[in-house]
Amino acid sequence: MSDKTDTTYDIVVFGATSFVGQILTKYLLKTYGTGKDLKWAIGGRSESKLQTLKSDLGKDGSELPVIVADASDESALKALCDQTRVVISTVGPYALYGEPLVKVCAETGTDYCDLTGEVQWIRKMVDKYEDTAKSSGARIVHSCGFDSIPSDMGVWFLQQQAEQTFGKPCRDVRMRVKAAKGEFSGGTVASLVNAVKEAAADPALRKEMANPFSICPEGHRSEVRQPNIKGAQHDKELDVWLAPFVMSAINNRIVHRSNALQDARYGKEFTYDEAMIVGRGLQGRLTAYGVTAALGGFVTASAFKPSRWVVEKFVPKPGEGPSPEVQEAGYYDLRFVGKTEDGKTIKTKVVGDRDPGYGSTSKMLGEAGACLAFDMADKPGGFWTPSSLMDGKLFDRLTSKAGLTFEVLETS
Ligand SMILES: NC(=O)c1ccc[n+]([C@@H]2O[C@H](COP(=O)([O-])OP(=O)(O)OC[C@H]3O[C@@H](n4cnc5c(N)ncnc54)[C@H](OP(=O)(O)O)[C@@H]3O)[C@@H](O)[C@H]2O)c1
Repeated sequence: MSDKTDTTYDIVVFGATSFVGQILTKYLLKTYGTGKDLKWAIGGRSESKLQTLKSDLGKDGSELPVIVADASDESALKALCDQTRVVISTVGPYALYGEPLVKVCAETGTDYCDLTGEVQWIRKMVDKYEDTAKSSGARIVHSCGFDSIPSDMGVWFLQQQAEQTFGKPCRDVRMRVKAAKGEFSGGTVASLVNAVKEAAADPALRKEMANPFSICPEGHRSEVRQPNIKGAQHDKELDVWLAPFVMSAINNRIVHRSNALQDARYGKEFTYDEAMIVGRGLQGRLTAYGVTAALGGFVTASAFKPSRWVVEKFVPKPGEGPSPEVQEAGYYDLRFVGKTEDGKTIKTKVVGDRDPGYGSTSKMLGEAGACLAFDMADKPGGFWTPSSLMDGKLFDRLTSKAGLTFEVLETS
């Protein structure tokens, strides 16, 4: 485990001037103040942008220390890491800018969390830096936003309840997005476009990304066929129409890695999938086909250079995203259904009180960082997932501070 104790800061927010970084900074300021229980600083590549952010935060923000570092400058990143126990990074697309910071955190025993949903990049980081992180004690936790904390912690909660109620975990878990309200930001679109672009150019990468166990450790790839909702589908049990859920490609890989890192706590036969409920009857059917076509159109357009510019022209640019009103009015409601191999069923729900991508994501990311800083003293270094490392401690923070609720609806 990392023995970093005498640093100036508990946390540095790297990329504080990003769209999501600014919301996170406001959240940390409101929740923890400055220089009190949590000692933290803001970082980024532009001194002037960081100073503007500070003045936008008014009197409360004036005490916030600033650290300037470019994401490609390893010696500046090392100087940043020498001052803190934890780095929260919102500098993305991570596949383009994120590697030097992960490398330096792994080398210096600095805990790290981020918002990446880029599976191919996570695989690469694990392969290159896991041994270093294990020996330095750095705990690296990717995907601490809407992808993938609600899914990962939602399954963790359901399995914990199943173990208490049935004495065993559920073999099969399905997550259905019942409702979600929010918008994309430019940074998220840029990351999605880049992931599609990389996959389009590399058939081996495409094959690897299609594997639900692609970020599991060697020897943890189950032979069990995983369900995968790729198109409009009628769910007979619920009598609703389902459409593919864009985040499932990252979420289900994180959930399988969590299972693997907990010695197959959910079972070696565990299956998991995600989809969106889009309605009932003819209207539901039409919406399900419409959503599938729109998703296919986005992927196709992002894959090829001639049409990629259309996506980049008409979606938000990096730095842009939903207004504070949209964030405030946003929410999500995720339903989980688990079944044991002998047919016992548990239904649970996870609700977030802000838009998924920004309002709620910032709170989850901030609490993941605080959890690393204060609750993980005895945990070893390595590449973890939110639930496999932070389990009950993160659950307490999400429910007491970050506006998430987890509830059992029914067991039978
Ligand atoms: N998992 C989730 O649920 C979730 C939700 C939201 C966002 N995200 C991800 O989070 C990331 C940020 O999203 P966003 O919308 O906030 O993006 P954004 O507004 O475009 O911000 C990108 C940030 O990267 C910084 N940056 C770029 N190149 C840099 C360099 N060489 N050195 C230092 N900093 C550099 C930019 O600095 P400047 O400010 O100086 O330009 C900016 O702060 C994206 O990868 C996105 O996909 C994930």
